[in-house]
Amino acid sequence: MKTELLSANIPADCQRALKLLKSGELVAVPTETVYGLAADASNPEAVRKVFAAKNRPADHPLIVHIGDIAQLEDWAINIPAVAYDLAKAFWPGPLTLLLEKHPDVSPVVTGGLETIGIRIPNHPVLCDLLRENKLAIAAPSANPYQKLSPTSAKQVQSGLDGKIAAILDGGDCTVGTESTIIQINEQNAQVLRSGPLTAQELSAVTHFPIIMPESHEQKVSGNKDIHYQPNTRLLLKTTDELLSADDKKDIGYLVYSNKLIDKQHQHAKVIASDHAQYRHDLYASLYELDRSNLKEIWVEQPPAGEHWYDIHDRLQKAASKN
Ligand code: TXA
Ligand code: MG
Repeated sequence: MKTELLSANIPADCQRALKLLKSGELVAVPTETVYGLAADASNPEAVRKVFAAKNRPADHPLIVHIGDIAQLEDWAINIPAVAYDLAKAFWPGPLTLLLEKHPDVSPVVTGGLETIGIRIPNHPVLCDLLRENKLAIAAPSANPYQKLSPTSAKQVQSGLDGKIAAILDGGDCTVGTESTIIQINEQNAQVLRSGPLTAQELSAVTHFPIIMPESHEQKVSGNKDIHYQPNTRLLLKTTDELLSADDKKDIGYLVYSNKLIDKQHQHAKVIASDHAQYRHDLYASLYELDRSNLKEIWVEQPPAGEHWYDIHDRLQKAASKN
């Protein structure tokens, strides 16, 4: 299949994307976190195509994206009041709420689970498209299974060209890592996937503490050890390990410390030491190093702290071995 390249800045292209989605085709769409591979969430046949295009196992649930809080009740039931508080505080934005699924929602979307992940993404064009057309899309990150998530249309193209109907180019993603996923009821909540929003930011709204991933045992389908991987083998190294190592011509380095920047490795990519900018540039930097025909990518261990949890999580999974 020929994958059409559409622009989110051109109204006719947005209408084309909408038409394709409504006719059961797959369109990669921009969100603030990463690009999503979208199918009409009310069409199980279309949603099945998402699993096929990504080569994703059928029991890995998808997140449903809506354009308006008013659409929430079409997809979830028994929604706790605190979920509305969080939605009002953080939507549109990088927060996915896990709620009890509406009985009409196809199990194809939720990987057979009785819960559903749902969010309003913060990309103006996508939001308008969803809200104005009362459309909901099931959309995982727009990459082949276990590979790097894309933060630009070009990166989507490198992984899925020829396998999907279209890519709607809405520019580079402004945030850069996938949404924070939170399971919630009236009395407590736990983060099942760390993301750009921290437990501290969320608990300012819930008024009860939020349990972080390190301290719970629950297995989430789709939350695998191996994930977010470049094709080139990736290793995490401490600043000191990198300082004392000799530069090798077939190793790529992703570094942020001044000491390492000064070392001037042959294949070094410098990344910001500020967490927001680091998050924004992380996948793009790894895609770039991945294209350089290197033997390994050595990533300087990022700083500690709550704002870096999601970055550590993604890099650890990127470095995981079979
Ligand atoms: O920022 C994001 O969340 C991006 C953009 C496109 O919205 N999406 C994304 O989707 O990262 P995906 O499929 O790559 O990761 C979603 C993860 C799944 O791996 C699964 O662990 C979890 O969300 N998930 C979704 N629905 C769930 C459910 N009902 N129960 C438990 N986990 C769920
Ligand atoms: Mg993904």
